[in-house]
Amino acid sequence: MTSSATRTAPTGLNQLLPGKSREARRVKTGIPELDEMLRGGFMEGDAVLLAGSAGTGKTTLGLQYLVNGVSKFNEAGVYVTFEELPDRIYRDAGNFGWDLRRMEEENMFKAVCTSPKLLLESANIQDETIREIRPKRIVIDSLSHLTMFVEQGGFRQEAYRLIMQIKTRGISSLLLWEASSAGNSMMLTDVGLSYLVDCVIMLKPVEIESSIRKALAVLKMRGSDHDKHLREFEITPTGVKIASAFANYEGLTSGVPRKVASEKFMEMFRKASDSR
Ligand SMILES: Nc1ncnc2c1ncn2[C@@H]1O[C@H](COP(=O)(O)OP(=O)(O)OP(=O)(O)O)[C@@H](O)[C@H]1O
Ligand SMILES: [Mg+2]
Repeated sequence: MTSSATRTAPTGLNQLLPGKSREARRVKTGIPELDEMLRGGFMEGDAVLLAGSAGTGKTTLGLQYLVNGVSKFNEAGVYVTFEELPDRIYRDAGNFGWDLRRMEEENMFKAVCTSPKLLLESANIQDETIREIRPKRIVIDSLSHLTMFVEQGGFRQEAYRLIMQIKTRGISSLLLWEASSAGNSMMLTDVGLSYLVDCVIMLKPVEIESSIRKALAVLKMRGSDHDKHLREFEITPTGVKIASAFANYEGLTSGVPRKVASEKFMEMFRKASDSR
């Protein structure tokens, strides 16, 4: 592993404690291109925010993270949802070839369908589940739903409490967040959430030449290097597939993509060659 893939104690502390710096273990998503973007995976125990507008693939990516945890890394996972009926989750996951019921029978997965109110009021739901399956991963679908049940101004405190509860149990969390369709991260900063989490991933629809494509970017990752490009991804019948960066466009986050000069030059060059 390269030095960029490690999170160690600050330099001063390293000097005081020679040989004590430890590489943080990576929690792999099991999606090779995403793990590469994250320089090996999420940091163990980190709280990761997955933000995106409606239909961008948050639930699919969240479930894939849990399913890969079980099938590829032997790590149990919990999926907490406020919005979906259990049958629909199993059915939709089944369409991707993910057998959640079997994983549940093997005590490696649990779907917790609850209300934000119950989740906030009692840590018991989590404790019971945590004792049962000893999860290493948890997905909350979605943290945005909590905003409706918390008094104005109290959201940040409640979110902090929840994140810390999960962290102290040594579980890595993926917190889904419904961003506005404008896709910027304004909403995140409004509630001060991006400061509470260690890593932020954004999913965003982009319109290019009259078609809607999907983009993914790692906006921040505390204590680690990460890919800074906007990468194209697709939701395929087997789950999320990440492609290369949108190398030939700029201005994608503003919603007004323009071809970069080199691509314009190539296009002119191709047209000139074709007309000969
Ligand atoms: N089995 C499948 N095969 C291919 N693509 C699928 C499949 N199931 C869903 N999709 C695609 O994934 C999209 C929705 O993904 P998902 O439900 O993960 O998004 P989301 O961000 O969680 O949405 P919401 O904001 O409604 O919660 C669908 O609009 C569809 O394009
Ligand atoms: Mg969803």
